[in-house]
Amino acid sequence: MKRPIAALAGVGSYAPKRIMRNAEFAALGLDTNDEWIVQRTGIRERHIAEPDETNRTMSAAAARMAMERAGVVAGDLDLIVLGTASPDRLLPSTAVDLQAEIGASRAAAFDVMAACSSWLYGLIVAEGLMASGNAETALVVGSEKLTSIVDWQDRSTCVLFGDGAGAAVLKRSEGGKGILSTFMRSDGNLAELLYRPAGGAAHPFSQQVLDDRSYFVKMEGRETFKYAVRSMSEAADHALARAGLTGQDLDLMIPHQANIRIIEATARHAEVPMDKVYVNVDRYGNTSSASIGLALEEAIAAGRVKEGSTVMLVAFGAGYTWASLIVRF
Ligand code: ACO
Repeated sequence: MKRPIAALAGVGSYAPKRIMRNAEFAALGLDTNDEWIVQRTGIRERHIAEPDETNRTMSAAAARMAMERAGVVAGDLDLIVLGTASPDRLLPSTAVDLQAEIGASRAAAFDVMAACSSWLYGLIVAEGLMASGNAETALVVGSEKLTSIVDWQDRSTCVLFGDGAGAAVLKRSEGGKGILSTFMRSDGNLAELLYRPAGGAAHPFSQQVLDDRSYFVKMEGRETFKYAVRSMSEAADHALARAGLTGQDLDLMIPHQANIRIIEATARHAEVPMDKVYVNVDRYGNTSSASIGLALEEAIAAGRVKEGSTVMLVAFGAGYTWASLIVRF
């Protein structure tokens, strides 16, 4: 396969208006404080969706921005890939709800589920479908309403997450712009380190599930941290090697925004100085599959990604899953 095949022609994002600051957790009766959260994670605030803000509405807002910037209309899309770990419904996919919302009647739409790596998995899947001639114009979205699946009585998880959406339209590459290299991997032996034990087919909803709160996210934070650093470092190495580049060749690195310490450790490993790393975890927390799209949209708006910029995206998520992608704008 001769690259580049697919270019990121337009990027969009959406964040709910309501902002929740660290100090507000105390009012929920949680034994935590701003200092602990900032020191351990770098998070100061996160955006929280209102009841009427769903993945359908948030993904559509991000998608419309990306389509406008790419100069395409919904009828041009022949593929929609949506990543989410917090789908609006268990059946059907959130991607088909997005399709209906924006009126993309010519598209094939489906979800990918690789937790925080979902947006990169989605971009890689879309590029592959473009390479095989199954799609010409693709919309790839990551959207999360994580605040609906975290346990607000568990201080070790609820302080970490936020809501939002990020989107990109992929078009055929022209003039050497587009995806230069990709890498994706997973390890299902580690699934129980970050998961929702119940609510699916193996442990359907019951009174006991409600009582023991086992439908909420559970996480082994310290183990997750270790694997996150290891796997994001590995993903960065592979994407760079496959593109024939080193960390010094990058104009910007946009890692999944889960924790500032994970971001700094990954950047150190890839030999990318922190002034070439985009960070917004302080303002959004961990928005899982929305995080890299949200950050990329901000980085473009801030002028940190320009025509000709070489950018590495790198992610890690539940599964565990990890992925990376280098793209030239
Ligand atoms: N406020 C105050 N104290 C807290 C809080 C809190 N919000 N949360 C936990 N603590 C306490 C713990 O109870 C523990 O107390 P103890 O020592 O009395 O038992 C103490 O702080 C230390 O807990 P650790 O879990 O060891 O703290 P650590 O330094 O590892 O930081 C954290 C925890 C922030 C969760 C960190 O491990 C981390 O960021 N892990 C990675 C998480 C992550 O990135 N997850 C997302 C992955 S991507 C995806 O797919 C969603």
